[in-house]
Order: sequence, then structure tokens, then C-alpha cells
Amino acid sequence: MMETLVFLQTNLLSIVLGLVTCILVWMIRGKQKSFGRFPPGPRPVPLIGNLLQIDLKEPYKSYEEFCKKYGSVCTIWLANKPVVILSGYQTLKDALVTQGEEFSGRAQYPFLMKATNGYGVLVSSGHRWRELRRFSITTLKNFGMGRRSVEERVQEEARSLVKAFDELNGGLFDPRELLCNAVSNVICSTVFGHRFEYKDPEFLLLYNAVTDAFIVLNSRIGQLYNMFPGILDRFPGKHRDMFALLQEAQAYVKKEADIRLKHLDANSIPQDFIEAFVIKMIQEKDVPNSEFHYGNLLGSVWNLFSAGTETTSSTLRQMLLMMIKHPQIQARVQKEIDEVVGQDRSPSMEDRSKMPYTDAVIHEVQRHMDLAPTSLPHKVTADTEFKSYHIPKDTMVLPLLSSVLFDPKLWKNPNNFDPENFLDEEGRFKKNDAFLAFGLGKRICLGEGLARMELFLFTCSLLQRFTFVGTKPPEEIVTNPKNCSFGRLPCVYDCYAKLRV
Ligand code: HEM
Repeated sequence: MMETLVFLQTNLLSIVLGLVTCILVWMIRGKQKSFGRFPPGPRPVPLIGNLLQIDLKEPYKSYEEFCKKYGSVCTIWLANKPVVILSGYQTLKDALVTQGEEFSGRAQYPFLMKATNGYGVLVSSGHRWRELRRFSITTLKNFGMGRRSVEERVQEEARSLVKAFDELNGGLFDPRELLCNAVSNVICSTVFGHRFEYKDPEFLLLYNAVTDAFIVLNSRIGQLYNMFPGILDRFPGKHRDMFALLQEAQAYVKKEADIRLKHLDANSIPQDFIEAFVIKMIQEKDVPNSEFHYGNLLGSVWNLFSAGTETTSSTLRQMLLMMIKHPQIQARVQKEIDEVVGQDRSPSMEDRSKMPYTDAVIHEVQRHMDLAPTSLPHKVTADTEFKSYHIPKDTMVLPLLSSVLFDPKLWKNPNNFDPENFLDEEGRFKKNDAFLAFGLGKRICLGEGLARMELFLFTCSLLQRFTFVGTKPPEEIVTNPKNCSFGRLPCVYDCYAKLRV
């Protein structure tokens, strides 16, 4: 009797499992069929899609392999979600530039959505995104109209950074925090109109909110949050503390906006990003559905902090590491600085055109580190015909920037760190359209101008005054960035900043 019961139970379980599998296969097939001519890709497994075929530590490498096998446009399934991968310069250009409008949507990550309640330029699409993007770009460009230029603000911060390095008296240190302080202070200067002392409690509130968000985003809980936001919202943990801190930082930004609201009118000349936004709020107060309200102000300010801090400071950190690894390259940059800038004044953007080698080194650090191998996720804003395939509206699209940054057909020496990738035979700087570190098309990084300025002025100011040396001989130093959920970040290291004169 007992044996019969066990037999029946086992068979029942197999029948139920079989049925569930059949239904899932049928659902996925049905989905694929209804999607028509979806680009090809590896066969997905019910529930998990292609997750087992993807190296979760370096997913972009698996995507590249899929593209080699299935073509420059292919489809993978992340659990039950289709994702279209784009690879190679021509395909990225065809999609993001030629069919730029359709590929300009932003796919949503619950973590980023929750951080700004869906407001702000980075997470939005369509009308909201267009309005906020145009506003942010014009405002960042126009700064200095009233008082000082962005360049002066970056120079001021570079001097403070050099001073902070000086105070270490040549001792061993991890450059992460100081670089991060300096870069986020440049955003503060743009957003609030002035820089802060690094120990100022208001600066620390903003700084901790940005760095905490990044840590949580890259932690296991952050990745789980992107999969099961509804469940994790109900449980305490690092993510909830982080969202609370973020709200505090946003309350501070709102307080700053309220102060400005009292003395500004529609014709005032803005002195900082918040003022420019508040003036727009006043100008559009009677426009129905205007995008200029507190939600989008807080979202956009937060986007500038979150997208502008870790990216630029990590690039600078990788820059110093590459200088330690390649002392002869460091010496050649310093020679150029000495010849063009000298030791008695701050480097300026005017110097850049006279410093092709330094410019090439900065570009090569960015190319070689490949900070955002899959860029930020896009989505198509409408049903889209692309290269004889059909991509349904709202499908997530990942542009594989790394496939272009390392393409042997487009670079002299793609796999090694070599500034010659950006120099011609006469040693002049050579622009290369395949340099896609900031993305391509309508959603290209809107802070590119500011980031390039920071990279040039901070690098020159630091190497003008210091020589960077590691704790091991150069040949033993490992420089490969580590992959995390949103990009490739430099490994943690300590170094010495030795005074040059
Ligand atoms: C080395 C530094 C930087 C790198 C490598 C970088 C790279 C990128 C990339 C790859 C994207 C995604 C493009 C796409 O969606 O296709 C992006 C978007 C963005 N970046 Fe940057 N970025 C840097 C610095 C900055 C700075 C300093 C700011 C702020 C001032 C900034 C603000 C933004 C914003 C707001 C977006 C979203 C644009 C949109 O959705 O339309 N970034 N960045």
C-alpha cells in the first residue's frame, strides 16, 4: 500500500513538472512567435532564459561570443525578458544614429527608477527625456554666463585636490576617496554654485548618498532589487537605509531650491543648475503638463551626481594606476606638461591642443579601461524594423560599446594599453570615430564635455606636481579593471604621490 502511494506521488510530481515545463515552453514559443522576426540568438530555457549560458561576472564577453555566432544583432533572454544586443561600429551607428529616434528609449532598472521615483533625464524616455535633456545640456553649456565658467570651477577644484595630495607628505594612500571628493565637488559647484570643504556636513550628506547608492547598486542586494523590487521593498536592509539617505539628500536639494524660489523671477539670470531649473519652473507654471517641477528637478540633480561622480573619478583612478604601471609614459606626459604649461600656472583647456601626447594618453586610458562595456540599457520606443528583423516596442537593447573599443579593424593595437592608438605618424593627436566611451547617438553622455575637461585638468594638475609610484615594481602591477553590475571599475590600490620639485 505504502509503495503504491509513493509510486503514485512520484508519478504525479513528474506529470505536474512535465505539464509546467510544456506550458512554459509554449508560453516562450508563443512570445517568440508573436514577436515575429526577432533577431536570432541562443535557445532560451523556460523561466531562466539564457542565464546559464552567460558568464555573470563578465556578461559583455558572453554577449560578444553570441554576436560572433548569431550576427551583429542578436537576442538573448534574461529570465523571461528578451534583450537585443548590438555589436560592431556599423550596427551601433545604424541603430543609435540612423534609427536614433526608435532606439532612444531608456530601459528601466527598478533600482534607478525608485531612486528618483521615475523622474530625471537618465531614466526617462519620450517627451520628458527630450525636455530634460535639452535643458540639462543647454544649462551645463551656458554656465559662466552670470559668474564663473565651468573651467574655472574645475581649475579651483584641481588646486584643492593637489593641496589635499600635498598634505599626505608623500605617504602611502588609496587615492579613491580624494578623487571622488573632487569630482563630486565639481558637480556641487555646478548644481549649487559653489564648492564645499570635503568635511562640510552638507557635502558629506550628498557625497555619502552618491557613494552609498553606488555600493548598494553593485551589491547582491542591489542586483536582487532589480529583479524583485516589490518583495525587497517590504524587507529591511542596506537598500532601505540607502533610499532613506537619498531622500535626505533630496530634501536638502529641495530646501536649496525653495531658498532660490523666493528671490528669483522669470527674467533672472541663473548662477547655477538649480537656479536655472527654478526659473524654468516659474516660466512654465501655467503650461499644462510642464516637465519643470520639483520631481524632475530632484531627479535631474541626482542624475548629474550619480552619472557624473563614479564614472569620472574611476577613470582618474585608472589613469594614475596606468601611470604607475608605465613610468616611461608618465615621464613623457610630465615632459609635455613642463614644456607647455610649466610649473607656475594652472593647466587650462587652451593647453590641450598643444599637448597631443597627454590627450592621447587620456583617451587611451578610457578606451582600454572600457568603463561601460554595455553602455546604459536602451529600449525601442516603437515597433522597429532593423536589418530585416522586427523588434517589438519597449524591448531592451544593449549597445556593446566594448565590441567597438577593441575592434582590431579599427585600432592599431587594440588589446594593449598604447597611446599610439590615438597618434599619427607625426605624433599629432588622431581622432577615431570608434572611440565610443561616452556612447553614441541621441543618448550619448550629456556630461561628456564636463568629463573631458575634468579628466584633462585633473590629470595635468596632478602630474604637474607629483610623480605616482606603486608599492610593487611596475611589471608586477595588475591593471585590469574589475567588472561590476554597471561597469568596469579600477582595482583598489595604494600608491605614493612624490613631489616632483
Ligand atoms: C569619464 C566619465 C564618463 C563616462 C565614461 C560616461 C559615460 C556615459 C555613458 C556610456 C552613458 C550612456 C549613454 C547611452 O545611454 O547610450 C552616459 C549617460 C549619461 N551621463 Fe555620462 N559618462 C561620464 C561622465 C559624466 C558626467 C561628468 C556627467 C554629469 C555631468 C554625466 C551624466 C550623464 C547622464 C545624465 C547620462 C544619461 C543621458 C541620457 O539618458 O540621455 N556623465 N554616460
